[in-house]
Amino acid sequence: MERIWCLMTTGSVPQAFPFPLEPADFGTPARLYDPGRCPVSQIRLPSGDLAYFVTGRDDVETVLKDRRFSRNFRYPGAPRMVTETDLSTNPDAIVNLDPPEHTRLRRIISGSFRPRHATAWRPVISRIVDGLLDDLIAGGRPADLVAGFTQLLPISVMCELLDIPEQDKPSLIAWTGIFFDTGSASTTERTGAGIAFITYVRELVASRRVAPGTGIVDELIAACDTEGVLTPAELHQMISALFIGGQENTAALLARGLFTLLRQPGRYAELVAEPGLTERAVEEILRYEVASEGAFLRVATTEVELDGGKIPSGCAVQVSIPAANRDAKMFADPGTFDLHRAANPHLTFGAGAHYCPGAALARLELAIALGAITARLPGLRLAIDEAQARYAQDTLVRALLSLPVTW
Ligand code: HEM
Repeated sequence: MERIWCLMTTGSVPQAFPFPLEPADFGTPARLYDPGRCPVSQIRLPSGDLAYFVTGRDDVETVLKDRRFSRNFRYPGAPRMVTETDLSTNPDAIVNLDPPEHTRLRRIISGSFRPRHATAWRPVISRIVDGLLDDLIAGGRPADLVAGFTQLLPISVMCELLDIPEQDKPSLIAWTGIFFDTGSASTTERTGAGIAFITYVRELVASRRVAPGTGIVDELIAACDTEGVLTPAELHQMISALFIGGQENTAALLARGLFTLLRQPGRYAELVAEPGLTERAVEEILRYEVASEGAFLRVATTEVELDGGKIPSGCAVQVSIPAANRDAKMFADPGTFDLHRAANPHLTFGAGAHYCPGAALARLELAIALGAITARLPGLRLAIDEAQARYAQDTLVRALLSLPVTW
């Protein structure tokens, strides 16, 4: 039981979550992520509730896979991430359901995101990447890779796969940003973004019932209207989940990965010289640059003994995927970003029932983006001192706010 409180040995109260970043962290407070020193500890969520913070790779995998840990926070007195209304109480969102309800919803989308669709996705992603790079290069030096590339790529891909108009992109980016915010967004902003987003999705569905398109939205509408396997509320939530899941994580990882490649001497040049390393570079970016703790809260439905300590029944658990990805039991020299890392069993896409359905798509986006950037901008370099880089604070996704580069 003593180890449960190990973070408290450096202070007198549980750490406030999300953890503040220091400039030397480069977006990852790795000092808190040593499972050998501190496998299970307590944190104070922004709502004021306590949660257990789990860092060891095996324990993180257990929490994500073991059915004794639930995503049902819809009961009186359930722990909360934030006090304001957020996604966690929504009974129609796939990520809030446990099997078997979850399995029914999951079957509906898994077909659309199988890795075998990569053949169809590749030309779409390549066209979007090339267009974004054309605009970025035409805009001249220096340029901001976040505003001009990484923020735009995932939402553009998602709009294409869902067959959504280009002009809707800025609003979609703004809404998803507010959903992950844990501090600066007011209740009014949060509620406003939630209402605007779901209204947008409802209108989209209504318009596609009148004039069907050819995207995943239309497949989901058929699952609701023709096959009757999805309720209208679940349909709206599923479309929202694809937007939210597809945008923030992919954009943040790509920007953070590019920054790490550029700020470590010789890394970027090595990738330019050896394009065959791209796949390993993608996996290492995925391992090293997870921009949040990586997974939603769980609640223990019964007492569970993890390797790192006991989780009492009814308590909230926040796993840390970046910590699991730095577990020295699994990864040699885990604190080093290594372009040549061969075995890379990171948990960045989660594990178990909620394993990310967008993993194959995200991997392809990262690989095509890295390949095109290194081919077209071999002399790319930072246009700021690395110490000037700023990451989002008070948010569950610690994205780089900008990435000024030149070439
Ligand atoms: C690098 C980018 C991405 C990362 C790191 C990531 C990570 C994750 C993780 C860790 C989970 C599980 C969360 C949990 O168990 O609490 C998850 C679930 C999910 N992701 Fe992703 N994801 C990424 C990209 C995408 C994309 C491109 C899509 C869209 C197709 C997507 C859609 C979803 C959805 C809908 C879920 C919920 C699945 C469920 O509850 O069964 N993600 N993602």
